[in-house]
Amino acid sequence: MSRRTTRPLRVLVLDHTADLGGAELALVRTCAALDDGVDVRAVLFADGPLRGRLEDVGVRVDVLPLAGAVAAADRDRAGRLSPWTLVAAARTLPFLVRLARHVRRSRPDVVHTTSLKADLLGVVPAAVARRPLVWHVHDRIAPDYLPGVLVRLVRGLARVAPAALVANSRATAATLPVHARVAYPGFAPEQARGDQVAVPGRGRSDDEPPVVLMVGRLSPTKGQLEVVRAMPAVREAVPGARLRIVGDATFGAADYAERVREEVRRLGLEDAVDLVGFVADTRAELDRAAVCVHASPVPEPFGQVVVEAMVRGVPVVATRAGGVEEILDDDRDDDDHDDDHDADLGQDENGDGGALGLLVPPGDVAAIAAAVRQVLTMPDSARARAARARASALRRFPVARTARVLTEVWSDVSGRSPRA
Ligand code: UDP
Ligand code: GLC
Repeated sequence: MSRRTTRPLRVLVLDHTADLGGAELALVRTCAALDDGVDVRAVLFADGPLRGRLEDVGVRVDVLPLAGAVAAADRDRAGRLSPWTLVAAARTLPFLVRLARHVRRSRPDVVHTTSLKADLLGVVPAAVARRPLVWHVHDRIAPDYLPGVLVRLVRGLARVAPAALVANSRATAATLPVHARVAYPGFAPEQARGDQVAVPGRGRSDDEPPVVLMVGRLSPTKGQLEVVRAMPAVREAVPGARLRIVGDATFGAADYAERVREEVRRLGLEDAVDLVGFVADTRAELDRAAVCVHASPVPEPFGQVVVEAMVRGVPVVATRAGGVEEILDDDRDDDDHDDDHDADLGQDENGDGGALGLLVPPGDVAAIAAAVRQVLTMPDSARARAARARASALRRFPVARTARVLTEVWSDVSGRSPRA
């Protein structure tokens, strides 16, 4: 039973990064949507743009820097047991002591970790301070996504360390060994388009060529390379079609970005592909797009960019895997969901079968090209799908819903309600 209190429900969020990754942007949007009865503070293990974004929505932020070697560890290195592991462990100890002191001093009702590194580094400080720990898992804890050692470590600790787990999708929850509450990362109200009729590419004039848009970090897990490779076939059917790739190479993906650039040159697409870089507000990009492509060759844990395209009425082509399948399947919200949803490309005579987007097999360049061509050459059915998708996303993914689920989890583990 949770107690109604006169003071707010205090949540201390831990995140290892202060860069603006998807999980971090989701955190900012969620904090902005929380009830006044919840007081969130954050500890970041590095300084960066996330700090200001959280402060803007009223979150007090402290930065507790993590030793260079541990902070720099990427997922692959963290997955290898080596002398480096011992050095990293030793260097982490003073940090853990400082973090435990900080947790104790701030007296939170709940410690909420929102990145894998924070999940792991938060275990001891939360235990020492005797505060319930909630792991908010944004990554699929699976060997096709993370190194095996890390998968085993996270799965092992998941059974014993956190008082509760939250997952960003059912796909992510299914990779955990214990029950996790699903809190889909929601879109902020200002990200959605108003109530006009959905007109794909309405931000461009009729004589402008159609824009195929990708939004997301440049990364092998996002599939920019596959979409570049699909463009020659798209341009055979729609000669003027252009590809805009929005996003930059974060989290050590500079090599991949270079491979994408090389592929653009190799295919002679320099005049047809724009590598735009990071765009802080993607709405204008979405509004001029005829189609938004999400091409992750590996199962995406969730995929907020898909929802963001949907709520602006932009038709979506996406790879059929992970959380994206849930996003594009209205039935997934029901507990008794059956898996035979017919969202496949060309499954009924209109080619859209009541679906919300066109799904293609991961990594299949020809299928990506065919689906993009279909959207560009059959705008009426694409428009109908996009309108259905918008209505569905507006209903299923508002950030208020994310905030409500998280507040429930925090109340459950702490036995406290938010201040009335
Ligand atoms: N994003 C952005 N500007 C860019 C590229 C991406 O604001 O140039 C945002 C995008 O709108 C989304 C987030 O970054 O909100 C990416 O989140 P997603 O869940 O799609 O992927 P992640 O990067 O977390 O794997
Ligand atoms: C992670 C995942 C992404 C998800 C985001 C927000 O960064 O890679 O799929 O949408 O977190 O939960």
